[in-house]
Amino acid sequence: MSATLERPKITVPAIMAMKRRGEKIAMLTAYDFLFGKILDEAGVEIILVGDSSAMVFSGYDTTLPITLDEIIYHTRAVCRGVKRALLVADMPFLSYQISPEEAVRNAGRLLKEAGAEAVKIEGGAATAGTIHRMVEAGIPVMGHLGLTPQSVNALGGYALQAANEEAAKKLLDDARRLQDAGVFALVLEKIPATLAHEVTTALNVPTIGIGAGPDCDGQVLVTHDMLGLFEKFKLKFARRYAELGQTIREAAGQYVRDVKTNQFPNLEESF
Ligand code: KIV
Repeated sequence: MSATLERPKITVPAIMAMKRRGEKIAMLTAYDFLFGKILDEAGVEIILVGDSSAMVFSGYDTTLPITLDEIIYHTRAVCRGVKRALLVADMPFLSYQISPEEAVRNAGRLLKEAGAEAVKIEGGAATAGTIHRMVEAGIPVMGHLGLTPQSVNALGGYALQAANEEAAKKLLDDARRLQDAGVFALVLEKIPATLAHEVTTALNVPTIGIGAGPDCDGQVLVTHDMLGLFEKFKLKFARRYAELGQTIREAAGQYVRDVKTNQFPNLEESF
């Protein structure tokens, strides 16, 4: 039996209990079977099929173009590789904003057709009614406040959010409204560390930070950023744990040289 199978399956209540025990939560993104499997085996507690896939997998400039069917495709693939982690799927832009009914129907597809165990949506108090409806339908929801990339056009870019007193007060109020609506966890993206600390202390549900300092209950990174695979830009908060882009380039370059100089395949690699 592998080490992964010996450890209990991570559920929504298990994630909430981690906050109560003061145990940090590790979350990463995955978009395909192999990454899902490897991250699961590494002990990541939450695997997010993020709409960041639009940028780091498909090469778009923003997260807006990805469709619900595309997220379903990615989630199905990741699901086949994940045994232990909680599998959360991002709801794409305009799949939950139009009406609570559409939100429930679309979130339901992610659970029914793709194997997601929870969904994540972006936005503050305006989304509380929709979250409430999804939670009532038995769909666990993760919130997302601060820098919400689906609103990049309204925000005018990817700058630090809630940097003044008024905006910080609104974010704290939004966080409380999302908790009351029933979120089981809340992503806080690119906000001052002091504010993330305040929100984390104020809430009973865990906060998961990305560019939100060390005091959140957990941390999330886009896997392609932390592995050095996505090289278009380097984010201050995305620590690089490997330089796989460079490793792959070097390996592929060596393969090209070996083919061209007749070094590959050799006799042992031939029949
Ligand atoms: O889409 C994504 O990868 C995300 C994380 C950055 C939290 O929303």
